[in-house]
Amino acid sequence: MKLLHSITGRQIKITVVGLGYVGLPLAVEFARNGVQVAGYEVDEAKLARLRDGESYIRDVSSDDLHSLVLDGLLLPTSDDRHIALSDVVIICVPTPCGRDNEPDLSFIRSAARTVASRLKRGHLIILESTSFPGTTEEILQPVLEESGLRAGRDFHLAFSPERIDPGNPKFNVRNTAKLVAGTTEEATYLAEAVYSLVAERVVRVSSPRVAEMAKLFENTFRHVNIALANEMAQVCERMGIDVWEVINAAATKPFGFMPFYPGPGVGGHCIPVDPQYLLYKARQYGCTLRFVELANEINDGMPDRVVDRVQATLEELGRDLAGSRTLVLGVAYKKDIDDVRESPALRVIERLKARGASVEYHDPLVPEFEEGGSVFQSVELTPERIRSADCVIICTDHSSLPYEQVLRHSRAIIDTRNALARVCSSPSSAATKEDERGGALARR
Ligand SMILES: NC(=O)c1ccc[n+]([C@@H]2O[C@H](COP(=O)([O-])OP(=O)(O)OC[C@H]3O[C@@H](n4cnc5c(N)ncnc54)[C@H](O)[C@@H]3O)[C@@H](O)[C@H]2O)c1
Repeated sequence: MKLLHSITGRQIKITVVGLGYVGLPLAVEFARNGVQVAGYEVDEAKLARLRDGESYIRDVSSDDLHSLVLDGLLLPTSDDRHIALSDVVIICVPTPCGRDNEPDLSFIRSAARTVASRLKRGHLIILESTSFPGTTEEILQPVLEESGLRAGRDFHLAFSPERIDPGNPKFNVRNTAKLVAGTTEEATYLAEAVYSLVAERVVRVSSPRVAEMAKLFENTFRHVNIALANEMAQVCERMGIDVWEVINAAATKPFGFMPFYPGPGVGGHCIPVDPQYLLYKARQYGCTLRFVELANEINDGMPDRVVDRVQATLEELGRDLAGSRTLVLGVAYKKDIDDVRESPALRVIERLKARGASVEYHDPLVPEFEEGGSVFQSVELTPERIRSADCVIICTDHSSLPYEQVLRHSRAIIDTRNALARVCSSPSSAATKEDERGGALARR
């Protein structure tokens, strides 16, 4: 098989379509491994930064990117003719939710039309975007076949779900196992060969539908278990038990338990979105997924619970939430990243404002963000600013936040991530501070 030889000999060209959180690290990894990569992107602002060797993804270093671009191994481009010049095309475009939480596959359709217009015999097309089972064969394939070429006969088609975890210092493209499945056995083997260039472990499954469902299951599993942790947190709070200590204690069991942690809700492009894709497809088959719906309800309710907690804490201190000054620390949807998509911190801010509080935020990684037509800017974190807030709310536990300073100067803190455990030698030392402040320091 000619293409297989070219792949194993790294004598191929790959076009990655969509250079975001998923596509850019993948494109860089292939280029780093000596494969010629064209990064096809429709956002000209992103392309301009890439051409200057500037990375907008924290997990990709600008130095690495710059040298790959200079060496001609990575070509950022809006010229779709590079698709025709490639052997392999990997589609990494967004799959958000639209109105009523329905899957929005418009980006996949539009990318598919572009690829179809440049499709040639022998191409291997791989979809990485997360979507419901059937997307590769029922949505992508028909659009590609509008070219007149047939999948399995004229070109190869496969699905390989992305498993990138932005901000994770331990797991990356190389050491995270990759699932692959083609619409034919040949396509599966070719996709396996492609990813074997950059991933230590590639796992074949029997069909794209299995790979698509596996991805949804992974993230739904996380969604449901976070919801369970959030419920545990509520009952522990009522009972005066430290839920974090409980989870860490349970996690000492070496089998049958995996720790998930409570927080202000779920965010990002995956955990709040992927279960909606699963629900949508399940409904078409007459299935209700009660666990998933319940997890939605619990996780979606968390920002309100955080604000309830702020209100209760202020009332204990003889103040009203309305008219109070609050300071939110961290707005990214999780620690050590700069992504605010679907971030629960934004919902917390929205609800604090709705209840009449004034809100400032500080996030060392998010200097500003836009929400509902308004632009919000991170304020400088000074002892005076911390002291002037009636309540500080830790929504994202970035490693670089000065927790000791926060603890020293704040009047009241709601810590939704157990971030202060880092500066308190034990959970009980956090409780001492709490007592000194008349119960003002709430750990959730
Ligand atoms: N971000 C994550 O942590 C993560 C993890 C696993 C899986 N995923 C999945 O991967 C997919 C991509 O997510 P992402 O986070 O990288 O999105 P993203 O928004 O960061 O990047 C997508 C990029 O595609 C570009 N794009 C859109 N339409 C295009 C088109 N027709 N042609 C070329 N470029 C186009 C956009 O301009 C953008 O730069 C989604 O399905 C997502 O669910 C994301």
